[in-house]
Amino acid sequence: MLSTLPTAHAPRIARVAAPPTFAARSGAQQLRATLLASPRTIAPKWLYDARGCVLYEAITELPEYHLPRVERAILGRHQPEMLRLLPHGAELIDIGSGDGLKARRWLDAGIVCRYIGVDIAEDWLSEALRRGQARYPQVQFDGVVTDLNWGLQLPLAREGNRPRIFWYPGSSIGNFEPVAATALLAQMRALMQPGDALVLAVDGPVEPARMVRAYDDAAGVTAAFNLNVLNVVNRELGADFDPAGFRHRAVFNADASRIEMHLVATRAQSVDLGAGRTLSLTAGEHIVTEHSYKHSAERALRLLRDAGFNGVQRFDIEGEAYGVYVAGIDHAKP
Ligand SMILES: C[S@@+](CC[C@H](N)C(=O)[O-])C[C@H]1O[C@@H](n2cnc3c(N)ncnc32)[C@H](O)[C@@H]1O
Repeated sequence: MLSTLPTAHAPRIARVAAPPTFAARSGAQQLRATLLASPRTIAPKWLYDARGCVLYEAITELPEYHLPRVERAILGRHQPEMLRLLPHGAELIDIGSGDGLKARRWLDAGIVCRYIGVDIAEDWLSEALRRGQARYPQVQFDGVVTDLNWGLQLPLAREGNRPRIFWYPGSSIGNFEPVAATALLAQMRALMQPGDALVLAVDGPVEPARMVRAYDDAAGVTAAFNLNVLNVVNRELGADFDPAGFRHRAVFNADASRIEMHLVATRAQSVDLGAGRTLSLTAGEHIVTEHSYKHSAERALRLLRDAGFNGVQRFDIEGEAYGVYVAGIDHAKP
């Protein structure tokens, strides 16, 4: 069926502008404010500059970072059943698409006519679209550059009223606080029509030591990924963080069921944050850079239900808490 389609045009990239509530403060102002607030935080989106993207790709290959391996095993085992649930001839919306490689599973299955990558990292997205378009010339590759914290917007209209598959792998949903995760899923649902589907991967809690190792590997790749964010902040704010004055820490917060990545000051220090602001840190004080919520099956199903999905199917493999959920909608509104 795909071979009858005309050859696709060059990838188009649409850029979403910050909505008024966010535009009032620039990204730099927001970043400075969260560093000076309590607790001190750097939003995880800042982790993905060019070096961060390369380091993230290396993380996915680490023996300790079991998430991609378990996800692959689940999809490998259950893909035939999933393909029966998913629309064919679809537009695949790859949320937080990164290198886009995980989407190849659906492209190779021949169910995708158009791929739309959605990511904040424009250079990474452009490269992924270029590579994808060269590999799958019969599929249309397009992209949307946006910050998902602004709410999900898709400025690229459906072509030919094709069904859409929202593909959100990697348990990236766990990087959002539960209320924001529900809101993001609800936005996806609001953009869906009957016949569309969501495929969502969600990591669950396993033995704490295993989870901590996954975010604090022996080779120090995750540490380098985390510390690199200070270089991003230096560029964005004209700040003078010295990464050598910090160490990476991953901890499991059992009450919240999340892994927290911290940057811990190894000595007392004053950091110039630009715009006349200074951050004073005592030795041992930390900055939070990422939360990765680990949602049990029950909690993940609740997130989906609260976002208005029903008829959800969960796919997993024995002995692992990771789940891949396929959800459709019957009605346009919850
Ligand atoms: C953990 S990586 C996952 C990449 C890929 N989907 C995978 O599973 O391997 C998270 C991706 O989300 C993107 N991202 C992070 N925060 C974002 C935000 N606020 N808005 C849009 N994209 C974001 C990053 O640039 C990165 O590509």
